[in-house]
Amino acid sequence: MCGIIAYAGYKECQPILLKSLKRLGYRGYDSCGIAVSAVSSQQSAVPRPQDNRLATIKVYKDIGRVGDLEKSLPQIQGRVGIGHTRWATHGEVSTSNAHPHLDCSGRIAVVHNGVIENFQTLRDDLTREGHRFSSETDTEVIPHLIERYYGGDLEEAVARALADVRGTYAIVVLAAGHKELIAAQRESPLIIGVGDRENFVASDVTVVLDYTDRVIYLEDGDIALVSDESISITSRESGRGTPDSRLQTLDYRPVQREEEIVPWSPEEAQKGGYEHFMLKEIHEQPKSIENTLRGHISLIERTVSLNIRHEEGLENILLVACGTSCHAALIAEYVISKLCHLPVRVKVASEFNYHQMALEKTWVWGITQSGETLDTLRALKKARELGCATLSITNVPGSSITRIADQVFYTRSGPELGVAATKTFLAQLVALYLLALSLSPPDIMIGEGLIEGLRILPSKVQQVLDDAEEIIPHARHLSRHDNAFFIGRGINYPVAMEGALKVKEISYIHAEAYPAGELKHGPFALLRPSTPVVAITTRDDTYEAMLTSIKEIKARGPQVIALAEEGDEDIEQFVDAVIRIPPIDPLFSPFLNSVALQLLAYYTAKERGCSIDLPANLTKSVTVP
Ligand code: F6R
Repeated sequence: MCGIIAYAGYKECQPILLKSLKRLGYRGYDSCGIAVSAVSSQQSAVPRPQDNRLATIKVYKDIGRVGDLEKSLPQIQGRVGIGHTRWATHGEVSTSNAHPHLDCSGRIAVVHNGVIENFQTLRDDLTREGHRFSSETDTEVIPHLIERYYGGDLEEAVARALADVRGTYAIVVLAAGHKELIAAQRESPLIIGVGDRENFVASDVTVVLDYTDRVIYLEDGDIALVSDESISITSRESGRGTPDSRLQTLDYRPVQREEEIVPWSPEEAQKGGYEHFMLKEIHEQPKSIENTLRGHISLIERTVSLNIRHEEGLENILLVACGTSCHAALIAEYVISKLCHLPVRVKVASEFNYHQMALEKTWVWGITQSGETLDTLRALKKARELGCATLSITNVPGSSITRIADQVFYTRSGPELGVAATKTFLAQLVALYLLALSLSPPDIMIGEGLIEGLRILPSKVQQVLDDAEEIIPHARHLSRHDNAFFIGRGINYPVAMEGALKVKEISYIHAEAYPAGELKHGPFALLRPSTPVVAITTRDDTYEAMLTSIKEIKARGPQVIALAEEGDEDIEQFVDAVIRIPPIDPLFSPFLNSVALQLLAYYTAKERGCSIDLPANLTKSVTVP
């Protein structure tokens, strides 16, 4: 999704903006640009009143990669600037649609993430007033609105402009002759990176880690004035105290936002010798599981201890999430119903609003690795408004979901930069298994040795990783096809969904996941001898039924690759190829099967020469509806 970086400090900002834009690249983008408040040669070292008039905004933008933009740039001198990576929503991918956008005078530049819902009406009004537009974007109305209201006080003009806007936004405004940046957010995140004689504004923390680990998370309704030496924040929604004298008509009040330390190092956000972030992150999974488990299980007492309050009087659980996080929720649905004997439902977050769900005595858990997926945020907000107790499971400290939910469970995977979620998915599963165990009657925990099952997970996952290269021949086979089926039953059906999603998103193969029993109810029509089928044949109560499904498939000619337990020799006679999985309690089989499928997707995409970390049209953090 779009990304934002802005800098105000004592250094030349051009290299900082470009380096940060490259960092933002992991979110996916199609064009990029920077604007710098440029220093004129006629300006003096000691600021004079006439300098304001001499200052200009230099904007450079282009479609494609940041590296290409960089090559075409002159050296621009200036210590305040903004940058943006765009993922097109309104208007095609073009240089004119790339950000930053300017007002008519060319003295106000804006970068924006989010969607302005009423932009057409605003644009029509502004056009009637004489404003001229040079892009098709919704964003461009913002600098023009600021220009409309500007009477000498930039912050007030921004506040007035935002009062006209309906929709979601994270914006940073740069104005010629102003040493402050103005940042504002509503339902699209912004952080301020706090430095020494320099400050940053960015759409996520990984971008500023090279410079600082001190951050302030802005909240909805905040407007921040950020210069090299100061940060002041006013808020419309949560400000306290005396109304800000200039913005009081708009009901903005000063607000104190705590500075926090990000527990991630810049090294964690590097490839560390791996060819792709995705491969690195797949290999980091034993560590990520270990970190997420740390402090939560006691092997001696065989107990789970979480800092999560169990809500009184709750009778059922609802999980809301999108994409891979939703697959984690679907796996958890099996685990929670098995271990806790509690009714549990899963809803894709973007569909939550369309259903009149019975939510009495329901505990709603929002699962989102980024903590910023707008559909999940909105679902959880709505659940809260309806009186439900809420819990969020996220990987990103301070992310928006943590301010919406009553309670937070952090997975501890470190930053995930590959667009395809891998280590955060397994960590979500760990969190969900821990929560299920903490809600289960004590005899289940002890009787079934589940704590021990969790403890050995990192080493079991490591065993799959140790044999990673054995998956390459299977990937080579898969890579030669444009359609594939992934099948599973029971707890491994959502694993098949996740495997298919990974293959789809990074290798562009049309991979359909089905519960194995469903193929004969329609999809069989698509089975050709050339359609590969990946079947998860874990030895649990689904095993016999899986063999039946495989025989039905084989009768129609396709090649079947099975994910089967080491030692299961019988499987060989039914399938064409086998990916071996270390033996494990079937309840934990989703962990190992998922890792094998991540590797299958990765090597398949590599065989096809795909852009693995930045798949076409996708983005890491989906902050638009
Ligand atoms: C797939 C993938 C997406 C995300 C989805 C939700 O590999 O990464 O499907 O899982 O966009 O993202 P979060 O978990 O950040 O809410």
